[in-house]
Amino acid sequence: MESLTEHDKKLVQRSFTHIAPQNEDIAAVFYARLFELDPDIEHLFSTGLDVQRAKLMRMMADLVNALDAPEALSQSMRELGKQHVSYGVHDKHYATVGEALIWALRKVCPAVMTPTVTQAWEKTYALFAELAISGAH
Ligand code: HEM
Repeated sequence: MESLTEHDKKLVQRSFTHIAPQNEDIAAVFYARLFELDPDIEHLFSTGLDVQRAKLMRMMADLVNALDAPEALSQSMRELGKQHVSYGVHDKHYATVGEALIWALRKVCPAVMTPTVTQAWEKTYALFAELAISGAH
C-alpha cells in the first residue's frame, strides 16, 4: 500500500476547504459521471439528489478527516467496507467511484485541482478504497 506523505495530506485538506462550498455542483457532476460509467450502479442509491449529495459530502469529509487520525482510519474504513457489502457494493465499484469523484472535482474546481493536488486526492482515495475492500472480505 502506497502511504501518504504529510504533503499529500496537506494538499487534500487545504483543497477541501475550496471544494466543500461547491458541493452541489460536484454532486451533480459526480452522479452523472458515475451512472454514465456504470449504469448498473444507479439502482444501489436511494432516490433524491439531496440525500445523495449529503452522502457524497460525508464520503469526502470522511476521507479528509481520517487523514488526521491514521490510527483510527484503518479500522473505520474496514468497517465501512463491510457495511458497503450490504448496500450491494462490489470491489470493482471502488475504481469507478474514484474515477467519477476525481472527474467531478477537476470539472467543478479546475483551479484547485492542479496535477499535484489531483495526484494527492487519487492516492488518498486509493488508500481508503484498498482498506474498505479488505474489510469487505
Ligand atoms: C472510500 C470510499 C467510500 C467512502 C468513504 C464511502 C462513504 C459512505 C458513507 C459515509 C455512506 C453513508 C452511510 C450511512 O448512510 O450511514 C455511504 C453510503 C453508500 N455508499 Fe459509499 N463510500 C465509499 C465508496 C462507495 C462505493 C465504491 C460505492 C459503490 C457504488 C458506494 C455506494 C454507497 C451506497 C449505495 C450507499 C448507500 C446510499 C443510499 O442508501 O442511498 N460507496 N458511503
